[in-house]
Amino acid sequence: MTSHIMPTYQRLPVTFVRGEGAWLWDEDGHRHLDALSGIAVCNLGHAHPAIHQAICEQSRTLLHTSNIYGIGLQAKLADRLTEKSGMDNVFFCNSGAEANEAAIKLARKYGHGLGVEKPAIIVMEKSFHGRTLATLSATGNSKVQQGFEPLVEGFVRVPYNDISAIKQALADHVGIVAILVEPVQGEGGVNLPATDYLSEIRTLCDQRQLLMMLDEIQTGIGRSGRFVAYQHSGVVPDVCTLAKALGNGVPIGACMAKGKAAEILTVGSHGSTFGGNLLACRAALAVLDVLDETDLIAQAGNKGQRISSLFTEQLQGNSHVQEIRHLGLMIGIELDRPCGELVKSALARNLLINVTNEKTIRLLPPLIFDDRQIAQLVTVLSELIHAYTGS
Ligand SMILES: Cc1ncc(COP(=O)(O)O)c(C=O)c1O
Repeated sequence: MTSHIMPTYQRLPVTFVRGEGAWLWDEDGHRHLDALSGIAVCNLGHAHPAIHQAICEQSRTLLHTSNIYGIGLQAKLADRLTEKSGMDNVFFCNSGAEANEAAIKLARKYGHGLGVEKPAIIVMEKSFHGRTLATLSATGNSKVQQGFEPLVEGFVRVPYNDISAIKQALADHVGIVAILVEPVQGEGGVNLPATDYLSEIRTLCDQRQLLMMLDEIQTGIGRSGRFVAYQHSGVVPDVCTLAKALGNGVPIGACMAKGKAAEILTVGSHGSTFGGNLLACRAALAVLDVLDETDLIAQAGNKGQRISSLFTEQLQGNSHVQEIRHLGLMIGIELDRPCGELVKSALARNLLINVTNEKTIRLLPPLIFDDRQIAQLVTVLSELIHAYTGS
């Protein structure tokens, strides 16, 4: 069969037609345990009744008007997000890459306001910020960039989790106006920085009038065990981007700003047709309601800890397991060899997982994952890892 879809994705040979909670059913009626949540999107699980109801009600009322007019639900969502995050205001868009584009534009405009002719942003090795031209240029992965040169200029790259490298870059380059970093690198392999990494970046930014910009697209909306991951470190950035789980599957992105950064984007400087439309905002408000009414965020911390401990137990003595890392329900199991094959063998056991940065099994189960699902995940995946590594 020929496909009329551009072949930009390496797809697994399965198509899902229905979901409920952490379960997905394929076309043949087989049930699969979803430990990936559509890559950190469906944090509340599939077909959540509150999200379903909100979307249905909104579609009966009004879907879209445009940002030419006031949008009450958008204002309400901005209030809720700023209250939860400690930020001041929000620009709404439709994806993570767009949220980061807004952040990059904001940083450049901030730089021009300071009289910097060619503003530059410090970004990290192994980072991932999206697939638009500016965000792929900011991304620290040459595979994402290959074939799309010339890249957008104005990015200075340093190793992740290395404050002295940032200081060196600041000494070596003129025109740096911002630092863009993920609190935990997701695509890069679930890489956790040192405990004081973010607070040291905050200090540097304060000393040198730089914007601290956090990409919380994967870490945000409760996944880390806090609403946003920077709340683990006690600092507040100048700019923070969200997307993925904000709409639990309805596309929505947000670029939030605080203090001086909140005054940079003004009338006419940025925009989006769909950004923050009624449907997307209604879905996001329903997500926030569910998070407020439950202790799912706090539980994410406990569940992540439990999953990590269980894997440590089950994989003990397997010398091919290099490290098990986690923050909340962002879990990485690094092997000593490429292990993309494991995704297929897990699928054959009706378990959905992911491998990133070649050697790291990445698990992003929904926040509603229960004890039995945790047990199933750990048992099946540990067996597969032992079989794969031959120990
Ligand atoms: C940290 C981070 N930033 C940005 C993006 C890009 O988001 P989107 O695919 O919605 O454009 C991703 C997607 O994986 C991400 O993990």
